[in-house]
Amino acid sequence: MALTHNVVRTIAREEPTLPREASPRRYLMCPPAHFRVTYSINPWMDPAKPVDLPLALAQWEDLRDRYLALGHSVSLLEPRPELPDMVFAANGATVIDGRVLGARFAYEERVREAEIHLEWFRSRGYADVREPAHINEGEGDFAVTGSYVLAGRGFRSSPLSHSEAQEFFGRPVIGLDLVDPRYYHLDTALCVLDEAADEIMYYPGAFSPGSRAVLARLFPGALIAAEEDAAALGLNAVSDGRHVLLPQAAVGLYEPLRERGFEPIGIDLGELLKGGGSVKCCTQELRG
Ligand code: ARG
Repeated sequence: MALTHNVVRTIAREEPTLPREASPRRYLMCPPAHFRVTYSINPWMDPAKPVDLPLALAQWEDLRDRYLALGHSVSLLEPRPELPDMVFAANGATVIDGRVLGARFAYEERVREAEIHLEWFRSRGYADVREPAHINEGEGDFAVTGSYVLAGRGFRSSPLSHSEAQEFFGRPVIGLDLVDPRYYHLDTALCVLDEAADEIMYYPGAFSPGSRAVLARLFPGALIAAEEDAAALGLNAVSDGRHVLLPQAAVGLYEPLRERGFEPIGIDLGELLKGGGSVKCCTQELRG
């Protein structure tokens, strides 16, 4: 009896981690040619701190090259000198099933980015491009899993944009209340690891008690991030189903990701962090 028990335990321990499969992705990015921090619209931004522009560019190029080396495709937006936050391309739209919901920015400093994104999609033949009525900051606040669109609110996107997205995409939108100004966008506090499996990682401290309970109910198997990894913006990550590109300083996430069969790839975007963004903020996914 004891022997059988031991054998079972040994087999269980040697069981390989889930096979993870990457799927090829299409991303939209914008080089930080004119990146700078001259205003502050989130607690990470301090105009008194100098930005090393050549370093910012080199770090961004490293991220783009990683995507290409993993077999993903990267399309580029033309950066504009008057829009220093354009590098955070995730905020410009949300694309699901080839349908494009444009953004409407909360702060005047970024308002004109929205039209540039809309124009990019229209000129590339996307048929269903919608200019939104309500404030939403694209994938900054919308995260897509197989079953839901998770939607942040509290700092940027309006709750009204959630119904707008639900109507436009025909997918259930789950509103989540963000309560900590450091995690002002949903993508600073939550990351989708595997869409089809509804697998996510998140930092509970960024959410209201009710939203925490909703997340626990919908995603009981989620990877829960510790405060120090969230504070390194570790949840601002991009997964292709196998590789998880994440801010390199979020070291506490590496092992839990590996245990689940993912391959963490640390990226140093230290200069862009001065704008309050990292891997995910720089990356808009073009789905379908
Ligand atoms: N400075 C930008 C802002 O505050 C950073 C945006 C980061 N993007 C993101 N997807 N979280 O709007």
